Amino acid sequence: MNEQIDNLMNESRRFAPSAEFAAQSVAGSDSYDRGAAGAEFWADQARDLLHWHTPFTQTLDWSNAPFARWFADGELNVSYNCLDRHVAEGRGDRVALHWEGEPGDSRRITYAELTHDVKRAANVLTQLGIEPGDRVAIYMPLIPEALVAMLAVARLGAIHSVVFGGFSAESLRSRVDDAGAKLVITADGGYRKGNVFALKPVVDEALAADGGQNTVTNVLVVRRGNNDVAWHEGRDVWWHESVDAASSEHEAQAFPAEQPLFILYTSGTTGKPKGILHTSGGYLTQAAYTHKNVFDLRADTDVYWCTADVGWITGHTYVVYGPLANGATQVIYEGTPDSPHPGRWWEIIQKYGVSILYTAPTAIRSFMKLGSEIPAQYVLSSIRLLGSVGEPINPEAWIWYRDVVGAGTAPIVDTWWQTETGAIMISALPGLTTLKPGSAQVPLPGISIDILDEAGEKVSGEAGGLLVVTQPWPSMLRGIWGDNDRFRETYWEKFGDKYFAGDGARRDADGDIWLLGRVDDVMNVSGHRLSTAEIESSLVANPMVAEAAVVGAADETTGQAVVAFVILRASEAGKLEPAEASAVLRQHVATHIGAIARPARIYIVSELPKTRSGKIMRRLLRDVAEGREIGDTTTLTDQNVLNLISTQVH
Ligand code: WTA
Repeated sequence: MNEQIDNLMNESRRFAPSAEFAAQSVAGSDSYDRGAAGAEFWADQARDLLHWHTPFTQTLDWSNAPFARWFADGELNVSYNCLDRHVAEGRGDRVALHWEGEPGDSRRITYAELTHDVKRAANVLTQLGIEPGDRVAIYMPLIPEALVAMLAVARLGAIHSVVFGGFSAESLRSRVDDAGAKLVITADGGYRKGNVFALKPVVDEALAADGGQNTVTNVLVVRRGNNDVAWHEGRDVWWHESVDAASSEHEAQAFPAEQPLFILYTSGTTGKPKGILHTSGGYLTQAAYTHKNVFDLRADTDVYWCTADVGWITGHTYVVYGPLANGATQVIYEGTPDSPHPGRWWEIIQKYGVSILYTAPTAIRSFMKLGSEIPAQYVLSSIRLLGSVGEPINPEAWIWYRDVVGAGTAPIVDTWWQTETGAIMISALPGLTTLKPGSAQVPLPGISIDILDEAGEKVSGEAGGLLVVTQPWPSMLRGIWGDNDRFRETYWEKFGDKYFAGDGARRDADGDIWLLGRVDDVMNVSGHRLSTAEIESSLVANPMVAEAAVVGAADETTGQAVVAFVILRASEAGKLEPAEASAVLRQHVATHIGAIARPARIYIVSELPKTRSGKIMRRLLRDVAEGREIGDTTTLTDQNVLNLISTQVH
């Protein structure tokens, strides 16, 4: 792996910014000098980019590390910052959302209209008893109401927990329970791959589990798919009957900068997803700063499109909070890239004149596979900047993205960050940085990154190690919901006051950073984080399974693919053909966790390679899954196990 990266680093091409781009860069050539002020730099951004009901006098309080407080004596309203102030400052007629439904329906929503909708929704939430600090689960397709729901919750100082619509009833339920959500906002269904997928029935199933004992008092339902839904009188409320009829008078109240804004569950190294907690003022500051400067945003002329769903952190920061805080005009699209035809994305770019596109390498690689002829049928000349997120982008995909989508001229920003960091941490700044395909490059102004060895020593010069953030940053997580110990253990135990990201990284001779992927048991499939432990515990919960080991194996399109090795219980072995057992178990995981976690391959084997202390050697299984020669096996108890597995697999 390191050898491959070294070759890439040596061969890498460089793309200096054009003089024209550099002369007009939004970030400005003094960005890094200003960023050197650290916390004070962020205080300047917070004052410049946001409206404070009560200005702050404190910048950073790190006295209770690792629990940071930013701008703590200031007060603001996040929803007011994303909506009302644009209207008050004369931008009410600007389009906030160009929404495109999968079947081809569309809606154009101005800032004034979005503000009205959010005010109405906020009034309904208040009628339903939502108060500051209450948790609201949101389980929706990518329709404007998903954003309205998030902003209405934020407006009341309540906390949203958005659960991606592809998660199962069980996954939804565990998130509802963990957060103690009072309300679930959902839709009857949404469109995906030409069909309606049900959401409300999944909510019903989730809430009915455990004898229906849960914290939820109401379910607010948007009509979208027109699929049949059961109705629980007294609990369920139609959005169109309540929100559309509500008053659009609603004055946003000020909340402290550290008011919790949202919880977002993400996979870690154990079986239980962790609820990453973000708060208001610092988060919104870094969301707005990075969205403006990394994407070189000109809010009055650009049409921005981030293809992420609001179920992920990218959707929170770069569909909802960053763009709306900056008063941007953006496109959001409900469906899949190939519905109803493989040119759908390019058609959308042409239709709306998209100028900034932010997407994931996995999507770029799938388009590459389909061929350049497809985008060539559309006018993409409006594109002037491209972004990438979620996993390392291989140089081949980078070049294709720039040449085919960006006319060979658009700068590409490869942005490294995490659910936990809340906003972009490492990226080129367009117009300032000489671009290098495959490298995320440099920490943003105001961000301090280092690479350490296992012992916590800084590695200097051209070297690899573990990526850490050495200074607190405004949009950093404030904890794991309900589990301060896990927060400390996961991120802070290894290196004391430095945040351990869980990623490996190398620095090249120019000081640019290359991300090497996770160093823990977290997989990255199509830019989505999945935990090996979570899928293993799902597999062993099936009565057929005695033991299971899951690895992320390299995959050309999805980055990594979930591959499982399963030993069946003796009583089950032989009842089903291995191929049948594998199909049953793949479906089991999809039902249990959600379709995104469905293993690409499951091998039924009779042994798993283990160390003498009984630890499964995933490294060796990865070799098997990737069809590679098997690595160092000296710590393996039984050398024959791998030969056996190899014959069972190939
Ligand atoms: C990976 C997504 C390389 C990384 C915003 C990180 C990346 C995890 C990049 C976080 C990138 C994200 N280059 N790797 N540009 N961006 N990653 O929480 O392993 O879904 O730890 O946040 O994705 O995934 P998450």
